[in-house]
Amino acid sequence: MAIERTLSIIKPDAVGGNHIGAIYSRFEEAGLKIVGAKMLHLDDEKAGGFYAEHKERPFYNDLVSFMTSGPVVVSVLEGENAIAKHREIMGATNPAEAAEGTIRKDFASSIDENAVHGSDSAESAKREIAYFFADNEVLDRTR
Ligand code: PPS
Repeated sequence: MAIERTLSIIKPDAVGGNHIGAIYSRFEEAGLKIVGAKMLHLDDEKAGGFYAEHKERPFYNDLVSFMTSGPVVVSVLEGENAIAKHREIMGATNPAEAAEGTIRKDFASSIDENAVHGSDSAESAKREIAYFFADNEVLDRTR
């Protein structure tokens, strides 16, 4: 199986709730390696650009406002089948529908404030990683 990279964001609600370590543990327990990491406080332009594909959706302004309400932790995760594996351990977008034992079931309160983001395809992962990380900020941990 191919080694993939995916983008993770620990959102302001989960950072504010002091869940960074617990969420990182879930990644590592699932066999995902953190190969890039930074804490950022996004502004409207950076958050709005990230969610540009949702610009016409009714929740867009609230989403940008939430994502700029406090610090986030953006990370690049690497591992076998990393994109699907990460989405599986995050759980459904709406925490009310998330499976037991998933990050959103355990740490998210609503669909508007759902603790984490993960890339949904190889194409998105490539674009989203490049949106936050320069090439030399994603490290080789194979050795
Ligand atoms: S959808 O509904 O399938 O198009 O959702 P998705 O493509 O996964 O992305 C929607 C992103 O917006 C966030 N968000 C909401 N989605 C739906 N409804 C409401 N009210 C809402 N509020 C915020 C949702 O979490 C997705 O963001 P990410 O960062 O990918 O989780």
